[in-house]
Amino acid sequence: MASSVFHAPCGAPSIKQLECQKYVGLRPSVTLRFNCVKTKTVTARRLVVTASKSHDGASKKLGISDAECEAAVVAGNIPEAPPVPPKPAAPAGTPVVPSLPLSRRPRRNRKSPAMRASFQETNLSPANFVYPLFIHEGEEDTPIGAMPGCYRLGWRHGLVQEVAKARDVGVNSVVLFPKVPDALKSPTGDEAYNDNGLVPRTIRLLKDRYPDLVIYTDVALDPYSSDGHDGIVREDGVIMNDETVHQLCKQAVSQARAGADVVSPSDMMDGRVGAIRAALDAEGFQHVSIMSYTAKYASSFYGPFREALDSNPRFGDKKTYVIRVIELYANYREALVEAQADESEGADILLVKPGLPYLDVIRLLRDKYPLPIAAYQVSGEYSMIKAGGALKMIDEQRVMMESLMCLRRAGADIILTYFALQAARCLCGEKR
Ligand code: PBG
Repeated sequence: MASSVFHAPCGAPSIKQLECQKYVGLRPSVTLRFNCVKTKTVTARRLVVTASKSHDGASKKLGISDAECEAAVVAGNIPEAPPVPPKPAAPAGTPVVPSLPLSRRPRRNRKSPAMRASFQETNLSPANFVYPLFIHEGEEDTPIGAMPGCYRLGWRHGLVQEVAKARDVGVNSVVLFPKVPDALKSPTGDEAYNDNGLVPRTIRLLKDRYPDLVIYTDVALDPYSSDGHDGIVREDGVIMNDETVHQLCKQAVSQARAGADVVSPSDMMDGRVGAIRAALDAEGFQHVSIMSYTAKYASSFYGPFREALDSNPRFGDKKTYVIRVIELYANYREALVEAQADESEGADILLVKPGLPYLDVIRLLRDKYPLPIAAYQVSGEYSMIKAGGALKMIDEQRVMMESLMCLRRAGADIILTYFALQAARCLCGEKR
């Protein structure tokens, strides 16, 4: 753990403030004897952890040779060392009992901060985070009522500043969600593949400023659909699968053309991963990855997000295309059906959404598939922690860190989280 090497993506000044011992885990309280050495490389600044040199130097001469010391001990002239501390007293009234005959006492491995730190199984790093950012055409940043601390960011200013802040603390991946003007919405969501639309324009701007920034995009029609659905809606309310996939392919290619690194279909149409892969390849975007929303559940935890983008379905719900049957969050095996399809169609990353209420599904996919797993800690999860913190019912920062670590423990490699910046600052030892 303490030998972890952290690759910061950027020559950011506040990387200097990284405290190694705070960085590696949730709350390691030990002071490990390590020095942080920064080495400059051409593309990245590195923080290399090496053993301290403070104990290396030549041993001091005290005037007595090793042989003389040994002879003194052999002669019974043993130098004094501090006594073993006395056994700590139990409070008066503690019952005197024979010790239990236990061969295994798990508490032994947890007895000191240093030992607990050595045996920590899961780590959390800013490199694990993908920061979801809401963007709009405006110049100002508009607060999102149901998501304290989140804004619809002006794509030209607020967004660029937010990305800079995130990179400062080692978060170098973002996913973009646009708030599209109502006048540009239509039943077929054609604005989704406008090469000059908000998302492609923003990707070009970000790539111009930060060429090494990893940009994920959302592939679905909901921000562009006048019906607020992820796909094209037939007059009887049915979402048209193959016609929607046709639009999604055009959307993904348009995003790739602008410079997206990872396109992320979040729509749950059948066959969309394979179709998008073929469309990207046909246009020469073999290098663009696909993160598939493999197990996206029909969840009430998306409420605040839909407020943020004003993308509530105008009617009905998403139950027929997100994981389905009776209560749509009641199914577990169905996630495997989706994962099999996504893997065989060429997905590079499998995503589970929401996160914390679906840890079993994250673990399931982690155990069954070798692909990287992403977890989406969605808006409702974020808002609950924020609300609990604001009401002083829970310790916001600790619950935030615990929730993120638990997603990692369940098997997520990366986490899409609105806490990305706050948590990364915390991991970097910046208390704000
Ligand atoms: C839409 C999309 C949604 C989220 C991510 N992509 C909303 C939805 O399906 O209604 C939700 C994320 C969140 O709640 O934070 N394609």
